Amino acid sequence: MDRIRIRGGRRLEGEIAVSGSKNAALPLMAAALLTEETLVLGNLPHLNDITTLANLLVQHGVEIHMNGHAAKGGHAGRVLEMTAARIVSSKAPYDLVRKMRASVLVLGPLLARVGQAEVSLPGGCAIGARPVDLHLKALEAMGAEIELADGYILARAPEGLHGAKVVFPTVSVGATENLMMAASLAKGRTTLVNAAREPEIVDLADCLTAMGAQIEGAGSDSITIEGVERLRGAEHWVVPDRIETGTYAMAAAITDGVIDLVHARADHLEAVIAVLGAAGVSIEETNRGLRVKRANGALRAVEVTTQPYPGFPTDLQAQMTALMSTAEGASTITETIFENRFMHVPELSRMGAEVTVDGNSAIIRGPCDLQGAPVMATDLRASVSLVLAGLAAEGETILNRVYHLDRGYERLEEKLAACGADIERIGD
Ligand code: EPZ
Repeated sequence: MDRIRIRGGRRLEGEIAVSGSKNAALPLMAAALLTEETLVLGNLPHLNDITTLANLLVQHGVEIHMNGHAAKGGHAGRVLEMTAARIVSSKAPYDLVRKMRASVLVLGPLLARVGQAEVSLPGGCAIGARPVDLHLKALEAMGAEIELADGYILARAPEGLHGAKVVFPTVSVGATENLMMAASLAKGRTTLVNAAREPEIVDLADCLTAMGAQIEGAGSDSITIEGVERLRGAEHWVVPDRIETGTYAMAAAITDGVIDLVHARADHLEAVIAVLGAAGVSIEETNRGLRVKRANGALRAVEVTTQPYPGFPTDLQAQMTALMSTAEGASTITETIFENRFMHVPELSRMGAEVTVDGNSAIIRGPCDLQGAPVMATDLRASVSLVLAGLAAEGETILNRVYHLDRGYERLEEKLAACGADIERIGD
């Protein structure tokens, strides 16, 4: 199994091109199931999660062609052409779903397109139980009959789905996406109240609209979808990854470097820019993206609470914990989205960080002198937080279980090495 070796202590200087967003790309790919025509998606990141979903779509009957790296507006990600002329199977089997929870995003589209779906229950993962009850209740409100049997969600809508008013008790990105897709082909109007407002939701709405869907309010907490009879093919470019952007912004800050993040969008990162600003990190807009460096010397402690968008994202919480271990003073980071998202803490502590977890808060006392160590983590963002710590640490850090990183960071070691990091991937 691959590992990543980092020899820390180098200032990073240079530029990093931000890839297309993984979490926008996955629901966009699932949207290909909604039409028999071809959906072309550009600026897709080259990541294992994308391949996993592509494999699932292929077994549903989607024909997929990859057309290299067509560039548009400076973006050079992959282009996928997906055609679901005929759905040959409405079953999403355990073997594929267990590799990635986001596979549940095929549920809404399959149900809307062919009136049935059998999707393996995704189960919990390292960061929490992560149920899908909100997806299921909302689809039931639209007329789906749902049963759980033998670890599978069996969903049927023999008469088709109908519009409904769905009030989500808590904000869910995935449930909002599943419902937007299902409602696009339902009879009548669906209103989603307390909907997620993430940029990935807006990206999905833009693509569905290009496919002929009638959606209003995406980006606000109330989304209205007027169902249409059929959707058509379209071409859509995936938004830049705001979590990758935030991660590399913190790489610049933790190494006291200067990084230009090409394609990065400040409007998707307002809460992050505000928190990093308070911590002493300057993030300026340039005509190509964002330039990140420390404002004047040392970093300062801050208080951060993760929230659904537009709040500070849970997907940057682990990275922020690593960064704050090098800041002066006591920081408090509170996690409100997932119940078990501090697995990076014991590993950061082994590298010399002073962090105590108290309930859903981590208290970080800095600045500490990070020391390289062999480390590993059990999820994507926890893994990358250890990379950040390794970049700032004295000596060598070996990160194990690199497959977590490969799910969400495209060519991470190449991007960081191009800015002067001493980082390499090593085989066994
Ligand atoms: C998305 O997951 C992201 N994944 C996650 O990215 C991200 O951490 C999360 O949103 C929150 O921002 C993708 O977009 C593919 P949720 P999702 O439904 O949609 C609870 C990463 O590192 N909930 O918004 O699965 C749930 O347990 C990751 O890239 C229910 O209780 O998240 C959680 O506590 C990992 N019942 C909260 O809601 C449900 O039916 C928010 O989850 C659904 C969710």
